Amino acid sequence: MTSTTVSRGHHVLTEHPFALGLFGLNVSGGITMTSAEGAFELSWEATSRVAMQADALGLDLLVPVARWRGYDGRLNPNGSTYETFTWAAGIAASTSRIVVAATAHAPTLHPLVVAKQASTVDAIAGGRFALNAVMGWFSPELDMFGIATKEHDDRYRFGDEWMGLVDRLWASSEPFDHAGDSFRMTGAISEPRPPTRPLVLNAGASPAGIEFTARHADVNFATLMSAEQGSQLVESITKAAESVGRKVRVMTYGTVVIGDDEADARRRYQEILDHGDAEAARNFMHYLGLNSSSFEAQIAAALEEHFITSGGGLPIVGSAEQVADQLTALHEAGVSGFLMGGVPYDGMLDRFGTEVLPLLTERGLRN
Ligand SMILES: Cc1cc2nc3c(=O)[nH]c(=O)nc-3n(C[C@H](O)[C@H](O)[C@H](O)COP(=O)(O)O)c2cc1C
Repeated sequence: MTSTTVSRGHHVLTEHPFALGLFGLNVSGGITMTSAEGAFELSWEATSRVAMQADALGLDLLVPVARWRGYDGRLNPNGSTYETFTWAAGIAASTSRIVVAATAHAPTLHPLVVAKQASTVDAIAGGRFALNAVMGWFSPELDMFGIATKEHDDRYRFGDEWMGLVDRLWASSEPFDHAGDSFRMTGAISEPRPPTRPLVLNAGASPAGIEFTARHADVNFATLMSAEQGSQLVESITKAAESVGRKVRVMTYGTVVIGDDEADARRRYQEILDHGDAEAARNFMHYLGLNSSSFEAQIAAALEEHFITSGGGLPIVGSAEQVADQLTALHEAGVSGFLMGGVPYDGMLDRFGTEVLPLLTERGLRN
């Protein structure tokens, strides 16, 4: 691909050997379910300030969570959320380099709406927009739309047609007709089209999800419990993408806790857990487990802790050196980047910028 066919967002995301970003800045609680001091309280002031802090530090990607209602429990985490395209438009206007994603639940948004919202935010962002395509699994929120939650693999069949249409609208300068299983469109066109295809992200973990990623996405967000598990997943996603002539990078996510030393970091991590909302975490797992086949093993292993602290992802806990070690291990496993949560986000980023980033540069993960 020449530089003219690749978006600015793609350049940003591949500029450093190991990409870094933030996850969940548009939802109350971020990616944690806790009332520990520093838990994220949603306001435009807070979300835009932290986004600008991440941009100024040179981080690469902001991924919001598409959530329409919370998980109940004591704290009702994610009970208050900003809609992700409008959030991305505001954040894109306030930042200069960082890639800004919007997350779309395929069944709730028509491809025509998504194509145009995406090209609008991409224009505001100067090519730094990314679309995180998710199929929807949290049936209480789909119930609010009156949309039945489809059987797992049917969601991805629907998503395949949906994403194909978004892509066709982004690419086509001529009106086209479409008659498929889920959509009928006559004379469909969406101008302006984005000058280059926006990055497409997906977090599919099941065989159907990985197939979707292979066919459509540039980045897969993997849910990992260890670096070793990362290398296996990178291999299977790389193979699946290669089989359809594509390349997909694998990133992962979790909350980052940096302490003065290991004991201090463990103490801070324990506070997140001690103030955790186990009931909300169980609700989250219940719906993922019922409706998302790839998480059944995790539920069986009672990974409540990972949901309380890290939205189900991999917590990175330790001194600055140990945090750098754990990120390096992921890089060595073939993982291309990490989306961080923090309690609080801004305090974590302060320390990350001064203490961890220099170590990652020394080790060649950052330029
Ligand atoms: C980093 C990341 C971000 C995600 N964002 C959302 C989201 O915003 N909304 C949502 O409903 N699901 C979200 N998911 C869930 C995934 O779309 C997907 O359903 C889940 O990883 C299980 O994979 P499967 O659908 O292949 O079973 C996210 C998952 C991850 C790992």
